[in-house]
Amino acid sequence: MLKAGLIGNGGIARSHNKAYARMRTEGGPVAVEAYCDIRPEQLAGLDGARTYTDIDTMLASEQGRLDYIDVCLPTYLHAEVAVKAMRAGFHVLCEKPMALNHELAREMCRTALATGRTLMVGHVNRFMDDRRAIRDLCRSGELGRVRSAEFYREGGSREPMGYHNWFRDGKLSGGAMLDLHIHDVDLIVWLFGLPQAVSAAAATVIPGSGYDAMSVNYFYGDRTFVHAGCDWTIRHDTFNTRAMRVNFERGYVFCDRSPGRQAFVKVAEDGTVTDLAGLLGSDFFYNEIRYYATCVAEGREVADCPPEQSAEAVRLIMAEMASADRNGARIEL
Ligand SMILES: NC(=O)c1ccc[n+]([C@@H]2O[C@H](COP(=O)([O-])OP(=O)(O)OC[C@H]3O[C@@H](n4cnc5c(N)ncnc54)[C@H](O)[C@@H]3O)[C@@H](O)[C@H]2O)c1
Repeated sequence: MLKAGLIGNGGIARSHNKAYARMRTEGGPVAVEAYCDIRPEQLAGLDGARTYTDIDTMLASEQGRLDYIDVCLPTYLHAEVAVKAMRAGFHVLCEKPMALNHELAREMCRTALATGRTLMVGHVNRFMDDRRAIRDLCRSGELGRVRSAEFYREGGSREPMGYHNWFRDGKLSGGAMLDLHIHDVDLIVWLFGLPQAVSAAAATVIPGSGYDAMSVNYFYGDRTFVHAGCDWTIRHDTFNTRAMRVNFERGYVFCDRSPGRQAFVKVAEDGTVTDLAGLLGSDFFYNEIRYYATCVAEGREVADCPPEQSAEAVRLIMAEMASADRNGARIEL
C-alpha cells in the first residue's frame, strides 16, 4: 500500500479525500497518512493522520515515510512546493493548472527528470469516461477526420473564491484563462495536438482578476477549426455550462456535463443517434488518483497525462494571454 501526504486541505481536496476514502474501503492502492494546511481548522477531524501547519516541517518530518505528496494548494504555490517536494525525495501529484507560467512549469518537468520522481498534473478531464470515448473516436477515425470543435465553460462563481479570495487575484490564479479554461486547453492539446497558432479576445470583467471572459480560436493549418469560450463572471448564472462538441467528416459528438442538463450523444452520417449518457457518471477523481498511484507503485511513466503535455497547456495559455494583450493578434506557437 502506498502512503501519501496531502498539502492544502481546502476546496478541491474534498474531491481528493472522497477518492481516498473509496480506496480505503477497497484496500488500496494508496492511503493518506499526513496532511498539511496553513489553517489549523482545515486539519480538524482527520482521524489518525499526522498533521502539520507548515510545509517545510511536513516535508522534513515525513522523509522516508510517504511515497508521494498530493499538492492541492492555490496555483501560486504549485511550482515552489512541487519542486521542493521532489528534491526532498517525494513523487508529486499536483492539481491543475501546473504553474503560473511556462518557465515554472518547465522547471517542474526538469526537476522530475533530475530527481527521477514521478510528477503528474491532475488534468481530471482525461480521466472521465466520456472524454476518453471522444479521444478514442478522434484516434480511431470511425467518423472520419475532425473538421471542427467547440468548447464552452461558462458560469458564475461565489465570493470569497478560495482561501483569502485568491482565485480573484489574477497574479495568484492567472484568472479564468489559466484556472478554468485550462481544462479545455488541455483537452484540445490531448485530442488534437498543439495548434500552429492561436488568437484570443479576452476581457477583465472583475478588476484585478486577470482575463476572466474569453473567446479563443485555435488554428491547425489544415481547415480544422477549434474554438473555446470561457467566462466565470456571469451573474445569476443557473446553467454552469460545461459542454463540447466535435464535428467529424461523417458525424459528430455532443457532450454536455452541465448540472441538470447532462447529455452525450454520437450522431453518425446517416443520422443514427447513439446515446452515450451512461458514460457521464464516472468517478473521475478516483480514476485520476488511482491511475497516478498505480504508476508510482509499478514505476511506470504517467503516459495518460505526462507533465510535459501539462506544461504545453500552460504554454498555450501564455500565448493566448499574449494574443489578448494585443487585441486578438495571431500568435504562432
Ligand atoms: N481539478 C479541478 O477540477 C479543480 C477544481 C477546483 C480547483 N482546482 C485547483 O486546485 C487548487 C486548489 O484550489 P482550491 O479550490 O482547493 O483552493 P482553496 O483555497 O479552497 O484551498 C487551498 C488550501 O490551501 C491552504 N493553503 C494556502 N496556503 C498554504 C500554505 N502556505 N501552506 C499550507 N496550506 C496552505 C488553504 O488554507 C486552503 O485550505 C488550485 O490550483 C485550483 O485551480 C482544481
